[in-house]
Amino acid sequence: MRKKADKVIEDIKENVKYLSQLGVESIQEDSAEETLREKISHCQECPLSQTRRNAVPGEGSIKTDLMFVGEAPGREEDIQGRPFVGRAGQLLTKIIGAMKYRREDVFITNIVKCRPPQNRVPRKEEIEKCKGYLFKQLEIISPKVIVALGKSAADFFIHSQLGMTALRGDLYEFNDIKVMPTFHPSYLIRNEGNRKIKKMVWEDMKKVMAVLGKK
Ligand code: URA
Repeated sequence: MRKKADKVIEDIKENVKYLSQLGVESIQEDSAEETLREKISHCQECPLSQTRRNAVPGEGSIKTDLMFVGEAPGREEDIQGRPFVGRAGQLLTKIIGAMKYRREDVFITNIVKCRPPQNRVPRKEEIEKCKGYLFKQLEIISPKVIVALGKSAADFFIHSQLGMTALRGDLYEFNDIKVMPTFHPSYLIRNEGNRKIKKMVWEDMKKVMAVLGKK
């Protein structure tokens, strides 16, 4: 009996060692994220579930200090089930690279996990139904900084009447997490020739890097 128990313990140790070699440091966090991802993928809580092709839970590292939160999946994201993979996503990937991170080093998600028809702004009741998923992601990941991309994301974390131009440039707090609101990459694309907007976003990202000790 004793020998059998020793063998079971030995096997568990071996498995834990193997998983840690694979980079799985916290089995609990990994499985919580996996469970949440499953839940989001099958969610039927709001009418967006009727028109989506795929829910888009988010992707990246759950061991990260840095999270990017956008508004909602667009067409390409809905097709692929991945966040920020269209044109705006390519620009976001470049911004992340300029901050000396790889895309897989940070966590990228949205306020709502399903695409609104015709990419309309998500409705208040859709955000209400979906917000538990984002809260759970914040609990699992526990980032130091959230970059809120665009007005919808900024409004979710920061209660202010200010527009993005006035709001950006400063760090705010949300449940002990620092929040940097900045212009959405789609807005940068729509104003491609405007170097001032580009410069403002970069200034915001430099402040984020300073908080995270990145040079
Ligand atoms: N815009 C967003 O806000 N999120 C995406 O995932 C893609 C585009």
